Formats: sequence, structure tokens, C-alpha cells
Amino acid sequence: MATWSNFNFQNGASPLMEQIIFFHDHTLIILIMITILVSYLMMNLFFNSYINRFLLEGQMIELIWTILPAITLIFIALPSLRLLYLLDELNNPLITLKSIGHQWYWSYEYSDFNNIEFDSYMIPSNDLNKNEFRLLDVDNRIILPMNNQIRIMVTATDVIHSWTIPSLGVKIDANPGRLNQTNFFINRPGIFFGQCSEICGANHSFMPIVVESISIKNFINWINNYS
Ligand code: CUA
Repeated sequence: MATWSNFNFQNGASPLMEQIIFFHDHTLIILIMITILVSYLMMNLFFNSYINRFLLEGQMIELIWTILPAITLIFIALPSLRLLYLLDELNNPLITLKSIGHQWYWSYEYSDFNNIEFDSYMIPSNDLNKNEFRLLDVDNRIILPMNNQIRIMVTATDVIHSWTIPSLGVKIDANPGRLNQTNFFINRPGIFFGQCSEICGANHSFMPIVVESISIKNFINWINNYS
């Protein structure tokens, strides 16, 4: 989860999030190279006294500084497209979780298993225990098995919400009257926090998402004992 002065991404807990971080780093390197080159050129232009009153055009230099940025953009565009298609690919998911956005809480349905369904509300600050996180913890967590491909279907009942968990690399809008789907794979056991990320009304900040990732054995146990 995000903690104080965390300036970077949260650690990736899914293969897709790792790919997103790689792409971010790659693009940032290119950005830094451009910034350094342009600042160097501008410094040179500002601090010299060369003057050419009759300079109007330079065909060769204009050709070069048109083609070079175009090539640079291709180096960003191709990995970006690769990532886009990777994120969209569904790889035979084992289970499907349905997530419905409401003002202002999420509700979940495990339709594969005897239709388990529950609401998930943020725990108000006054009711927090010492091991819970303010504005992030919920009363009913999503339980999911690690090392399995999971499909999530997302919709909403009132306005647009967005089901977002940074460490899993998932961010998908919940639209009323539409059913969106995406998928992810959790690498390790743990608790992963997310928040709604569409401005959905007065309590937009207070509809967090919590995924509890456990082993498949414990997951089956949880399903069997769910009342
Ligand atoms: Cu739901 Cu913002």
C-alpha cells in the first residue's frame, strides 16, 4: 500500500503491474534524455553572441529535427501498444468476481459459488481498531486465491465509479448500464488496497477496495464456510 512520502509506484503484486512499471521507467528515461538535450541546446543558444541576420532556413537540419523526434516517438508507441494489448487479454480465468459500484460503497458477487454476495463499506474512523488503516479498510474484504487468473466484471447502479487497485495494475470504470471486464493474477498472499477513481459524488473518497489474497486451499475453505 502507499505510505508516507512514497513518490514512486507501489510495488507490483501482479505480472501486469510489473509490465506497467517497466514501461513507465522506459518512457521516463526517454523523457529525461529529451529534457537534458533540450536544456543543453537552450543554454547554448542563450549564452552566446553569434548572430546571423540573413538566416531564413536550413533544409538539412530541419529534416533531421523532424525525423529524430518521430523515431523517438515510435520507441514509446510500440511498447505502449504491446502493454495495451497485454492488459486487455483474458487468459482462461479460474474464477469471476462481479463488482458493483454504488454511492458510496462497493458490493461484490461470487456468481461461480452458490452466488455469494456482500456489501463492502469503509470502516469509519471512530470504529477503527489499531491494526486497521484509516480511510482504506472495509468491513467485508474481497477474498481471492493467489497464483490464479481472476476475471472481474464491473458495473454500477447510479453514477460512474472506478474499481482501482494500483499494486495489481487494475483500473476499470464502473458504468451504469454497462458491464466491463478485466483480469489479473496475484503473485503473492497479502492485502491490497485500492480506491474509487472516478469523481462520483460527496463521499467519493470513502469507498475503498480491499483484496485479501490467500492460498487456494484457504480460499476453498472460505467458500465452503461462507454463511
Ligand atoms: Cu465511486 Cu468515486
